[in-house]
Amino acid sequence: MTKFQELENLLNNLCKNIGYDDKVTLSLTNRPDLGEYQINDAMKLAKIYHKSPLIIANEIKDEIKENSYFENVNVAGSGFINISLSNQFLIEFLNEIKDNILKNVNMQEKKKIVIDYGGANVAKSLHVGHLRSANIGEALNRLAKLVGHETIADVHLGDSGLQAGIVVMEIENMFPDLICFKKDYNGEDFKLPITKEDLKVIYPTGSIKTKENENLLEKARQITYQIQNNHIGYSKLWDKITELSIKDIKETYEKLNTNFDLWEGERDSFKYIPEMFDFLNKKNLLYISEGAKVMDVKEETDDKEIPPIILQKSDGAYLYATTDLATIYGRIKRFNPDEIWYTTDLRQELHFEQVFRAAKKSQIVTETKLGFYGFGTINGKDGKPFKTRNGGVMSLEELIDLITEECYKRINDNIVEEENKKETAEIIALAALKYADLLPYRETDYIFDQTKFSDLEGKTGPYLLYSTIRIKSLLNKAKEKNINFNKFNIINSKTEKELLITLLNMPTVIDRAYDTKSLNEIAEYIYKLTSIYNKFYSENKILTEENNDLRESWLTLSKVVYNTNMILLNTMGINCPEKM
Ligand code: ARG
Repeated sequence: MTKFQELENLLNNLCKNIGYDDKVTLSLTNRPDLGEYQINDAMKLAKIYHKSPLIIANEIKDEIKENSYFENVNVAGSGFINISLSNQFLIEFLNEIKDNILKNVNMQEKKKIVIDYGGANVAKSLHVGHLRSANIGEALNRLAKLVGHETIADVHLGDSGLQAGIVVMEIENMFPDLICFKKDYNGEDFKLPITKEDLKVIYPTGSIKTKENENLLEKARQITYQIQNNHIGYSKLWDKITELSIKDIKETYEKLNTNFDLWEGERDSFKYIPEMFDFLNKKNLLYISEGAKVMDVKEETDDKEIPPIILQKSDGAYLYATTDLATIYGRIKRFNPDEIWYTTDLRQELHFEQVFRAAKKSQIVTETKLGFYGFGTINGKDGKPFKTRNGGVMSLEELIDLITEECYKRINDNIVEEENKKETAEIIALAALKYADLLPYRETDYIFDQTKFSDLEGKTGPYLLYSTIRIKSLLNKAKEKNINFNKFNIINSKTEKELLITLLNMPTVIDRAYDTKSLNEIAEYIYKLTSIYNKFYSENKILTEENNDLRESWLTLSKVVYNTNMILLNTMGINCPEKM
């Protein structure tokens, strides 16, 4: 139990003493001049107990004002109670968490959660949308673990779509004599005649061709279908392309500090498709519409049109919805998770709505909770989805390069040695990128601005890193000077009290982030905590303070803020360099 929960429990018990059994909560005030917290429940209790809220508020005040944890309890207006927390309480709180910040996190009842994010497409470049999926998905994964859940992260690669047919068709064009294209090919091994650099050109070239030529498009579709149905030569070639492409994809995700337990893809769901169709057929859920196998998923209560889900096209090919439904089928069978989460662009919302409904209607899913946590787009300064200078889709690599360049320029040569500059710039750039990406509410679009994101001042990743490293260096200096600090003794200033109250509120912030599946409040919180700490830092000369009790308190407080920052940065998937 966190100290804040303990406090609320105490409050509730005191209220029970005087006959009020209903839950009473402590909320942060909007009038800090009157006390840091408020109890606003007197109105609610008044209705239940048929008494005036003012009388109830005064009864509660009289009951709690003697308690040593509370201070300045007073009633305002028609029954609001303002409260401050005593120094005794706050000192006790800090000493309880000083060696284990996790005591300041509400642990939840453990669940098993499959998290589907990343979603890179084989043989295609990752783009900015994949960046958000990786950042948000990874942060949600870390957040779920932080509050005590078991997670299984699956990258769910796009590896069975039309790009497969396009790329294989292009390679057949370039190397018609490759053995996998021979009539009597029997699956023997061969060397792929292309590199990952070639791959970057092959898909875009082929894609343009299929857009200009119906026949080529048809051919690419046929090859895709044949790969889906294990055509021996095409499948072998596609396996090899996948292997090559995954190496690249893995490097990018590593750079992004994103980790997956499963490196599976759409194609891994193929083994469940026949079983799944049997299952759906037994329940009489499928029907043929214009040659395609579809299932109705609309509901009476819908206020918008929800079209039927198409699971097999008239030419026999499977679609995005088929592999997603079959993937759910497989995940239930293998892991039986409590929840499955998806993090993709909001524009895929309807697709997931259809898939989730199909899963529930067919009872492929009975207990498992399915959650779609979509995100908004990254826009350019013109407010439109971010493009390269010549109007093309911005690849993730280009984006990372842009911001790394910006961070490199700002590195202080007096602090970072020449040989470490590049690596440091990369760590800072990632922090800049990730923090900016997690700062707005998940569904909100935002404008990409590498200059602003890399700034050392303001709500930015670099500001947080810089400040956190400065605390670390303070703690190191204390160690070098053999200054011991083990406990927190005194609250000496308003700023310190503000810091303590902010720390006390951390569990609420984490809970809200978890409930909304958005890191924005955590991102705001760490900025707030850091800013107050920096104010405190500038107000005091910590290391040279002569009052030992005071110096010890300040260092202990600094350590707690440092550890809190590290835990929260880590939850956001942000690494901290040694120095900057
Ligand atoms: N590969 C897809 C894309 O690039 C994202 C995959 C999302 N996950 C899923 N289970 N459909 O748009």
